[in-house]
Amino acid sequence: MIDFTSQTPSHTKVHGRHGDYAIEAKGLIKRFKSGKSFVEVLKGVDFDARHGDLTMVMGPSGSGKSTLIAALSGLLRPEEGRVDALDVDDLWKLSLGKIDKFRLDHCGFIFQGFNLFPALTALQQVEIVLKFQGLSPERAKKRATEALTEVGLAHRLHQRPAILSGGEKQRVAIARALAKDPKILFADEPTSALDGENGQVVIRLLRRAATEHGAAVICVTHDPRLEAWADRVIKIEDGVIVSDERHTPNPDATLASHH
Ligand SMILES: Nc1ncnc2c1ncn2[C@@H]1O[C@H](COP(=O)(O)OP(=O)(O)OP(=O)(O)O)[C@@H](O)[C@H]1O
Ligand SMILES: [Mg+2]
Repeated sequence: MIDFTSQTPSHTKVHGRHGDYAIEAKGLIKRFKSGKSFVEVLKGVDFDARHGDLTMVMGPSGSGKSTLIAALSGLLRPEEGRVDALDVDDLWKLSLGKIDKFRLDHCGFIFQGFNLFPALTALQQVEIVLKFQGLSPERAKKRATEALTEVGLAHRLHQRPAILSGGEKQRVAIARALAKDPKILFADEPTSALDGENGQVVIRLLRRAATEHGAAVICVTHDPRLEAWADRVIKIEDGVIVSDERHTPNPDATLASHH
C-alpha cells in the first residue's frame, strides 16, 4: 500500500528506483514521417507523475497528448528520450516482450472508445485480462466481480456491450483496468463520449483509483471542467509542455448535465 502521509505538495524530487514518481520521462522526442520529411510531434518532453495523484494532461487536438501516453506506456517508441517507470530504468531499453509484460503487470488503460470485446459479457471482459495475467479462473472471477461491483455494475455482470449504455461500457473498461490494481492508470479522453452525469461517475472513479488505490492516474482530456478533480494539471501545446500546476482536488465537484 501507499503511505499517503509521505506525500507533500512541495516538489521534492526523488530520482531513481522506488522514488515518489511512478513514472518519469526525460527529453521525449517523437517524429512521424510525412512525405519526405518528418513532423516532430513531441519536442523534447519531460514528464513525471506520482503515485496517488490524478495528473491531468490537457491540450488542443493534435498537440501530442495521445502520442505522449503511448510513449510513456511502451506502446510507441520515441526517437529520443527515456522513460523510467516504477523500478524499471529506461523502459525503452527492454525487449518488446518485457515491455509488454510491464504493461500487462502494472498498467491499466481506459480509452474514449471503451475497447470492449462485443462477444463477451461484462464479467468475461474483466476476467480475461486477469487470466492472461496468470490468475486462476476462480480468483479471476472473484476479482472481476469485485471490480465490477466497485464501479456499480454488480447487476450487469452477464450483459454484453451491445445492451449496455455508454456510461456502463466505460465503467466496464474501468473495472477491467482497475481489477489488476495497476500502479499506473492511463486514460485517454475517458469522458468525451459520455454525458455529464456519466462523465462525472467516470472521473470520480479515476479520482478514487488515485486516492484509494494509490495509482498514478494520468488522464488526457479536452474538458477543462475535469480539472476540479485533479492534483495536477499539465498543459501541452504543439509537442511542448507549456504549464504544470498543482491543484487541490475537489472530489465532490459536479459536472453540468451536458458536455
Ligand atoms: N501514426 C502517425 N503517423 C503520422 N502522424 C501521426 C501519427 N499519430 C499521430 N500523428 C500526428 O501527431 C500529431 C499529434 O497526434 P496525437 O494523436 O498525439 O494528438 P492529440 O493531442 O492526442 O489529439 P486529439 O486531442 O485530437 O486526440 C497530430 O498532428 C497527428 O496527426
Ligand atoms: Mg488523442
